[in-house]
Amino acid sequence: MDFLKLVEEARTCRRFVENEPLTVEDVDFLLECARLAPCGRNAQELRFITVNAGETLDRLFSLTRWAGALKDWNGPVPGERPTAFIAVLMPERGGDILCFDAGIACQTIQLAATSRGWGDCIIYSFDRSKTHDLLNVDKAYKIALLIGLGVALEKRVVAPMPPDGSFVYWRDENQVHHVPKRPLAELIAGRF
Ligand SMILES: Cc1cc2nc3c(=O)[nH]c(=O)nc-3n(C[C@H](O)[C@H](O)[C@H](O)COP(=O)(O)O)c2cc1C
Repeated sequence: MDFLKLVEEARTCRRFVENEPLTVEDVDFLLECARLAPCGRNAQELRFITVNAGETLDRLFSLTRWAGALKDWNGPVPGERPTAFIAVLMPERGGDILCFDAGIACQTIQLAATSRGWGDCIIYSFDRSKTHDLLNVDKAYKIALLIGLGVALEKRVVAPMPPDGSFVYWRDENQVHHVPKRPLAELIAGRF
């Protein structure tokens, strides 16, 4: 697939085909892609915890918060929930550069998931303390981000920025998820 098209299709996904769960091998493919991602000093300090099934999957889901901007939606309902999670860990005492590493790892995973028709949602809003305990995270690490994953159910599209400049994503009457993106001319702060 053309790379720009892949990036365009790699929109955040929050509704999944729950009866087609991702396998451990599927998640390992994503981690293999993250393994090869660039990182500061090539120190490779991130670690990953995967959750594929069972009570831990249900409990982890209950600790996550989805789509704060969609006020009339409380997150994916049973049957549309993620079928796997990846927790991205970084050393508790690491420098800021590890946040960049975590972001790059997450985007690599998002692109890899899209290349297979899967969807994912990078999640910053979750109960860190309870998730730390649930996943038995080593005290030397903290959870940077979670990624909820599954076979993509919802249609997501890039939208033009509305005249009022609102960047809030929205759903239309057909439940298509629209994500406004600024035009390139607005992003270029200088050319020399
Ligand atoms: C660092 C980061 C944290 C995010 N945290 C959450 C979250 O806690 N819950 C959620 O539903 N979406 C979360 N998202 C998804 C964003 O809302 C989403 O990326 C944004 O709306 C733009 O949509 P797009 O990914 O389709 O471009 C997060 C995304 C990033 C990059």
